[in-house]
Amino acid sequence: MRVVVDRLGDPTSAAGRKLRAVVREQLAGVADDLAFLDDGTPMADAVDDADGIVTLLSTRVDDALLDRAPRLKAVGNFAVGYDNVDLEACKARGVAVCNTPDVLTRATAELSLTLLLAAARRVPEGETMARAGAFAGWAPDMLLGRELFGRRAVIVGRGRIGEATGALFAAVGLEVAYITRSDDERAIDDKLARAQVLSLHVPLSEATRHWLDARRLALLPADAIVINTARGPVVDEAALIDVLRERRIFAAGLDVYEREPEIPKALRSLDNAVLLPHLGSATYRAREGMARLSSGGVAAVLRGEDPPNRLV
Ligand code: DGY
Repeated sequence: MRVVVDRLGDPTSAAGRKLRAVVREQLAGVADDLAFLDDGTPMADAVDDADGIVTLLSTRVDDALLDRAPRLKAVGNFAVGYDNVDLEACKARGVAVCNTPDVLTRATAELSLTLLLAAARRVPEGETMARAGAFAGWAPDMLLGRELFGRRAVIVGRGRIGEATGALFAAVGLEVAYITRSDDERAIDDKLARAQVLSLHVPLSEATRHWLDARRLALLPADAIVINTARGPVVDEAALIDVLRERRIFAAGLDVYEREPEIPKALRSLDNAVLLPHLGSATYRAREGMARLSSGGVAAVLRGEDPPNRLV
């Protein structure tokens, strides 16, 4: 059987080689033809005779791709989020889809805390000053930030990553509350009005697109810090830029953006925004786990099994 794998990073780097080795191991005995798209061929151009594919979140698995993949039986999405995959279209064609839950929970929660600490204590501004040789000596009013102990944090979404992030926030002394699907509009507004830290942990769907819009941003207190390690379009990025520029909140720590990989210049120019390039799951352990679960899911489906990480 033929399995096609999206480009798993640089094939010559140690990490890239390791990820390919994990995928080879998972698919041994199942895929007699295993192709890694290392030359940058888009997945849609390589699926015509594929029985399984391992896709990155930048690859759209939709009717357009599925039309070109008549033999396809299994998709292993190298991510826990699957907003790039049209599950209904896959289901309608009998194509199984697997994702990578659990293995990146801790890494993503730790990055949320990293962004919070960096935003609260203005770490990038201090680092930039130090590297630029602009540190002119200790001063009582230089780069003052916010302590986290005793502040109120609101976590949006109580899935695995939301829970793990809440536990880490509590461990550094934040008081943690959650916004979940059972909260009505009024309860949400009340929580937002008290959220000195707001951390987003919901999947992207039509229901969550621009969940944090201009109206909700306006409810946040002036010392609020917004953290997003979920998906960029969950936030109205233009509205967030406005409140940051007008200093209506204290800061934001962002790992994801509305139109990745584009990060708007207006956002890049703000000193109260800490910006990372989608690193939530970027640890050796998490990425190896993601390689194992995505390709292992495809292998299991092609063997006729029903893996636990199967979505449809
Ligand atoms: C995911 O798995 O959905 C992440 O965004 C990748 O880090």
